[in-house]
Amino acid sequence: MELPFAESYKIKMVETIRRSTREERKEWIKTAKYNLFNLRSEQVFIDLLTDSGTGAMSDKQWGAMMIGDESYAGARSYHIMKDAIKRIFGFDYFLPTHQGRAAENVLFSVLVKQGDVIPGNSHFDTTKGHIEFRKAKAVDCTIDEAFDTNNTHPFKGNIDINKLEKVINDNKGKIPFVVLTLTNNTAGGQPVSMGNIKEVSALLKKNNIPLLFDSARFAENAYFIKTREEGYADKTIKEIVLEMYQYADFATMSSKKDAIVNMGGFIGFKDKEIFRQASTFNIMFEGFITYGGMSGRDMNALAQGLDESTEFDYLETRIKQVEYLGNRLIEFGIPIQKPIGGHAIFVDAKKMLPNMPKEQYIAQTLAVELYIEAGIRGVEIGTLLADRDPETRENRYPDLELMRLAIPRRTYTNNHMDVIAIALKNVFDRRDKITTGYKILWEAPIMRHFTVELEKI
Ligand code: F0G
Repeated sequence: MELPFAESYKIKMVETIRRSTREERKEWIKTAKYNLFNLRSEQVFIDLLTDSGTGAMSDKQWGAMMIGDESYAGARSYHIMKDAIKRIFGFDYFLPTHQGRAAENVLFSVLVKQGDVIPGNSHFDTTKGHIEFRKAKAVDCTIDEAFDTNNTHPFKGNIDINKLEKVINDNKGKIPFVVLTLTNNTAGGQPVSMGNIKEVSALLKKNNIPLLFDSARFAENAYFIKTREEGYADKTIKEIVLEMYQYADFATMSSKKDAIVNMGGFIGFKDKEIFRQASTFNIMFEGFITYGGMSGRDMNALAQGLDESTEFDYLETRIKQVEYLGNRLIEFGIPIQKPIGGHAIFVDAKKMLPNMPKEQYIAQTLAVELYIEAGIRGVEIGTLLADRDPETRENRYPDLELMRLAIPRRTYTNNHMDVIAIALKNVFDRRDKITTGYKILWEAPIMRHFTVELEKI
C-alpha cells in the first residue's frame, strides 16, 4: 500500500485550549457586539482569525532566541539576519522593522508622494492604507479570473498585463513602483507565476519603473511555482525564491507569516541610495538601523525561520493541511475559492447564504454562525471590511463576500481541520434558516471592521 501523508515534524510543547458550550458562546458573542475581534482568546476553541504571528516556532528557533545579541548597534543577531536575507533573497541592503506595515511606512515615506499612482495585484489593506494616507492611489490590476470563485486558474494572484500597461500609459511619470503581493492574500492566498513576474518586470524595465514584492507569503508562492508551473518541478524552493527576487527592486516583509515568528518584519533593497534615505525614516519610526524595532533574539529566530519556511517538506506539510480542509469542504458542497490557496480557505458567503440581503452583512453573519456552532473564529472579508466610500459615505458592496479561515503555521492538527469542516457543514445544512443578519450600532470612521459594534436584526 502507498503510505499516507504525514506532518514533517513532531510536537515538543503544547498549549491547552478549551471547548465551550453553545450557550456560553451565544452569550459571549452577544457581549462582544457580534464582532469576533472583541472576543477573548479563551472564548475561542480554534482560532482562524489570522495566520499572522500565530504560528509555532521550532526548537531551533527557540534555541536561537537564547543566544540573541541585544547590543544597540551592530549586534551579532543583526548580521545573522542580514546574512539570511542575502542568502535567501539576494538583497545587499536591508532594514529590520517591527512588522510588515512598518516596513511599508518606512519605504513609502521615501517613495510615495501626493498624486502618485501605485498599480498592483489586490494591495493588502495596510499597503493600500499607507498609499492612500499619502494621498496617492492604489489601482488593482489583478486578472479577472480571481473574482470568480469557481475558476480554477492555477495563478489567480497574477497581474493582468493589459490592465497594467493601460495604467502605466495613462499615468506617465506618476508611478513610483508597482507592487506584487506574493501570494495574493485578498484574492484567497492565490499565487503569482514566475511567468507573470517576468512579464511584469519586462514591462516595468521598458518604462523605467521599479518593482516591489510584498513578501509576507513568498515561500508559499514559491511552493506553488514548483508544483504548478512548467519547468520548476526539479528546482529547490530556495532556488525558486532566488530566481523570483532577481526581478524585485525592493521587498517589504511581514515576518509574522513566512518567517514563522510572532513579531517582526524588514525591507530589502538593491539600491544603496534608497536604502540610505529609508534608514533615516527607520531611525525615526522603528529604531536604529541594526535593530529597527526588533530584539536581537527575535532577529535570530527570524533568520532561522526563513531557512525553515523555504524547505520543501515544511511547505508541503503546510499547504497539504490547508488543502485537506478545503477538500473536505468541497466534498460537502460548501462553496469556497478555488483552487485552494496557500494560507487560508475563503468561503463564498453569498453562495452559502443566498437568502440573505447584502445590507445585513452576509459574511459576518456566516462567521458568527460558525463561532456559535463550534467556537471557531474566522474573519469577514466583505462589506464591513470594504467600509464606506470616503466621499459619499455609502457602504461599498464588494463583488465577493468572503469568510476567511486562516490556518496558523504548525499549530493545529488535521483533527482540528475535521472539526472545522463538520462545524461548517452543520451551518451549511441549516442555511435556509439563516435569513437575517446584523445592523451597525457603532462604527469608526475608517477601518471599522476591527471595532464595529453590531446588533442582531
Ligand atoms: N502584506 C500582506 C500581504 C499581509 O497579509 C499583511 C498582513 C501585511 C502586508 C501587513 O503585515 O500585519 O505584519 O503589519 N496580514 C495579516 C492578515 C494581518 O491577517 O492577513 P503586518
